[in-house]
Amino acid sequence: MSPLSAARAALRVYAAGAAVILAQLLRRCLGGFTEPVFPRQPGRVAIVTGGTQGIGLATSKRLALLGMHVIIAGNDAEKGREVVRKLKEETGNREVEFSYCNLASMRSIREFVLRFQEKKLPLHVLVNNAGVMMVPQRETEDGFEEHFGLNYLGHFLLTNLLLDTLRRSGRPGCKARVVTVSSATHYVGELALDDLQSRGGYSPHGAYAQSKLALVLFTYHLQGLLAAQGSHVTANVADPGVVDTDLYKHVFWGTRLVKKLSGWWLFKTPDEGAWTSVYAAVSPDLEGVGGRYLYNEKETRSLGLTYDLQLQQELWARSCQMTGIRDQTLDTFSE
Ligand SMILES: NC(=O)c1ccc[n+]([C@@H]2O[C@H](COP(=O)([O-])OP(=O)(O)OC[C@H]3O[C@@H](n4cnc5c(N)ncnc54)[C@H](OP(=O)(O)O)[C@@H]3O)[C@@H](O)[C@H]2O)c1
Repeated sequence: MSPLSAARAALRVYAAGAAVILAQLLRRCLGGFTEPVFPRQPGRVAIVTGGTQGIGLATSKRLALLGMHVIIAGNDAEKGREVVRKLKEETGNREVEFSYCNLASMRSIREFVLRFQEKKLPLHVLVNNAGVMMVPQRETEDGFEEHFGLNYLGHFLLTNLLLDTLRRSGRPGCKARVVTVSSATHYVGELALDDLQSRGGYSPHGAYAQSKLALVLFTYHLQGLLAAQGSHVTANVADPGVVDTDLYKHVFWGTRLVKKLSGWWLFKTPDEGAWTSVYAAVSPDLEGVGGRYLYNEKETRSLGLTYDLQLQQELWARSCQMTGIRDQTLDTFSE
């Protein structure tokens, strides 16, 4: 990517963020955020990736308060143990645990899934939340560009490895749910199928937006597949808005300064940011409903390109090749 294209990608990402912040500000002025009420979820099991801080932690806490058995998948065991201790204390729910899963390593993801399967638990909700943003150019353990490899491919692999358990756990009228956290930056993302690893030139903004766009395409294709197979599992995208978390630690210092000085007012709190994920995970309004882009606990349209079935299929097929997953699309749609 040329310096000019990289600058354009940065401007587009900042413009998308500014538009969301303005909408949030307007909402705050017009009455603010009202905490939604969710039904209790005893006996149900959830996995939340990146549940040790920020939106993932707030999501895990809310699911634990609703009575769910919550498994936090994260890449810092010490932080995980401390978070579990606190969550148990604050929610009174003893069924909160941490399990190591480095989403930047396919080996680690496979080991996490094997450990989970050994527990013989059902799985009712998978929240694909973990992520990094605008990191310097670097690679995952398997040699993928980090945004694409961790944010997108890590969750692609994790979801596929957990699909059979999700299928067995869903019931008519009480489906299992996959919730994938994307971002408004997907609206300005571009998906270069011939250069998914940004080898032709790296823009941290472009790479982040591409990973979030890929997650939307993945969710829509997954929903199509699940529906065609008649399985009792749904898949939706949650967009948290602009939220005051550590995600911004790699952005330009000027942006960090603005966030530090005015984030408390302009940004959502992690709790507010988690509401859409929790809504997607448990709301009765969404029973049996999949393939939706959810923002502020409502369905909204994602970028037009995300509804392109051919593009969804091509990305899925390439992701299967990159992760070594069998592509179920051909058997499903040719039956
Ligand atoms: N904050 C926003 O304004 C915003 C807006 C739109 C979308 N989002 C999305 O919301 C999600 C949560 O972000 P956040 O704002 O809550 O950021 P955050 O506070 O930085 O949390 C990110 C989480 O992901 C985990 N993570 C990072 N690398 C990982 C790895 N290799 N393996 C496993 N877990 C890993 C982090 O754990 P460690 O710190 O231990 O690595 C952390 O728990 C992300 O997908 C982000 O793209 C956020």
